[in-house]
Amino acid sequence: MDLHDQLAEHVTFFGELGVTGVSRDRRWRERAPDMSNGAPSSLAGAAAVADASDRSAADILAQIRADIGDCTRCKLCNLGRTQIVFGVGNPDADLMFVGEAPGGDEDIQGIPFVGRAGQLLTKIIESIRLKREDVYIANVIKCRPPGNRNPDPDEVATCEPFLMRQIDAIKPKVIVALGKFAAQALLKTQDPISKLRGRIYRYGDAQLIATFHPAFLLRSPERKRDVWEDMKRVRAILRGE
Ligand code: URA
Repeated sequence: MDLHDQLAEHVTFFGELGVTGVSRDRRWRERAPDMSNGAPSSLAGAAAVADASDRSAADILAQIRADIGDCTRCKLCNLGRTQIVFGVGNPDADLMFVGEAPGGDEDIQGIPFVGRAGQLLTKIIESIRLKREDVYIANVIKCRPPGNRNPDPDEVATCEPFLMRQIDAIKPKVIVALGKFAAQALLKTQDPISKLRGRIYRYGDAQLIATFHPAFLLRSPERKRDVWEDMKRVRAILRGE
């Protein structure tokens, strides 16, 4: 494919994602000093500019959902997904949780984190005296991978821009990346979750904390203590401490 065709494909893809313009504002390209691997991508910035207006976060989220449509952009549409699992919660949330991908229960109900791991996530949220309805919950991948396998890199690359737009719409103060997959996708790193935990990252205007996935906690309950430490950090940031 020559450069012209590549560019045309790129622009078409961005158009499909609902990106109607790009910004020359250099702030969209600036990265936080300690975040060489974790700032929002320029695509997210471009999408954010497209979404930036006086519209409410709820309206922007509705637009992003409409842009996704009955998505056939990646192979997951043909691999047994029942429906797209977009996201749930308060569009104006200060706190946003990002998981990996829908599992079986989520695929059936169309809502993220409603299975056993989801019930544990609800408890984790309540542990800092918030309700599920107060926060926003989404996944990196919006369709269930067959057999709950890990998402493939091309599936992440295709779907991730919609997550970026969700983050840009909600403008959370704190993002909690649940598990290795979400943390690696958001922070653009291959580091293990054990290394990514325990510090606070800047993610655009938000602060990002990586913690263990609730499904991992179901298998390794002894790590709940670590998640509690992470959630105390989250609570402190939300309280402005
Ligand atoms: N695990 C995830 O990462 N996301 C869900 O929505 C459910 C389980």
